[in-house]
Amino acid sequence: MVTVLVTGANRGLGLEFISHYLDRGDHVIATYRDIASSSELIKMSEDHDNLMTFNLDVDSEKSLTNFSKQLGNIPIDIFINNAGIYGPRNSSFGHVGTETWIPVLRINTIAPVLLTQLIIDNLRNGSVKKLIYITSKMGSIDDNSGGGSYVYRSTKAALNAVVKSLSIDLKNEGMIVTLLHPGWVQTDMGGPNGLIDKNTSVSGMIKVIDGLEQAQSGSFLDYTGCHIPW
Ligand SMILES: NC(=O)c1ccc[n+]([C@@H]2O[C@H](COP(=O)([O-])OP(=O)(O)OC[C@H]3O[C@@H](n4cnc5c(N)ncnc54)[C@H](OP(=O)(O)O)[C@@H]3O)[C@@H](O)[C@H]2O)c1
Repeated sequence: MVTVLVTGANRGLGLEFISHYLDRGDHVIATYRDIASSSELIKMSEDHDNLMTFNLDVDSEKSLTNFSKQLGNIPIDIFINNAGIYGPRNSSFGHVGTETWIPVLRINTIAPVLLTQLIIDNLRNGSVKKLIYITSKMGSIDDNSGGGSYVYRSTKAALNAVVKSLSIDLKNEGMIVTLLHPGWVQTDMGGPNGLIDKNTSVSGMIKVIDGLEQAQSGSFLDYTGCHIPW
């Protein structure tokens, strides 16, 4: 039995992670940004003693600090940084603007590092010490054959860069720090044409997380455990 923290847990892949870990009997800490759109998660917390929920807007430094204070010194074994946004759908060449780019950078790239800094002692006190960052194959520079999507691609590529540094900086503490691509999944973000459903994606990612060893820290893997080129 482990304690798992998942951000952006009110819908999509985040909610699916919660459901899978609860089924296994693990202790789950789920964060949501807006209670108004979190009724399913709140209902789950009423039905499960092993689910704690906290408000967290990763785009607000005040909210990040409040969350870490509320967490206190609870040890966290597995941290799944899942919250993310796609940003403007039309970020093709000729349509890119600063105002729409910066918030995506804050949420997809900067917030994961800020949150990790704030909860590092919780992670140090955990037994499993697995730090998982949900990224995207669209952040792979080698894999980019389609162009466009400047905003989403760049913020996930930057996430990959900072998580690689985290994996190096935290290696001596025995932390396993990994980037996971969930596949193209049928969620609000992935849309109905996604190639796989949430269950396939999250079952796959949990299997990968379970099997992670120190030697894989700093890797960029997909939900089947295959390496994605940087
Ligand atoms: N679906 C795919 O095909 C796909 C592919 C590659 C990577 N990913 C990645 O997988 C992760 C989950 O995606 P998804 O498909 O489940 O997307 P989703 O259905 O759009 O859900 C996104 C989640 O992130 C939360 N979030 C957004 N901004 C937030 C903020 N400022 N503070 C806290 N939470 C925030 C959302 O909360 P609200 O409901 O409050 O907005 C929601 O819970 C993301 O990092 C995404 O980039 C998805």
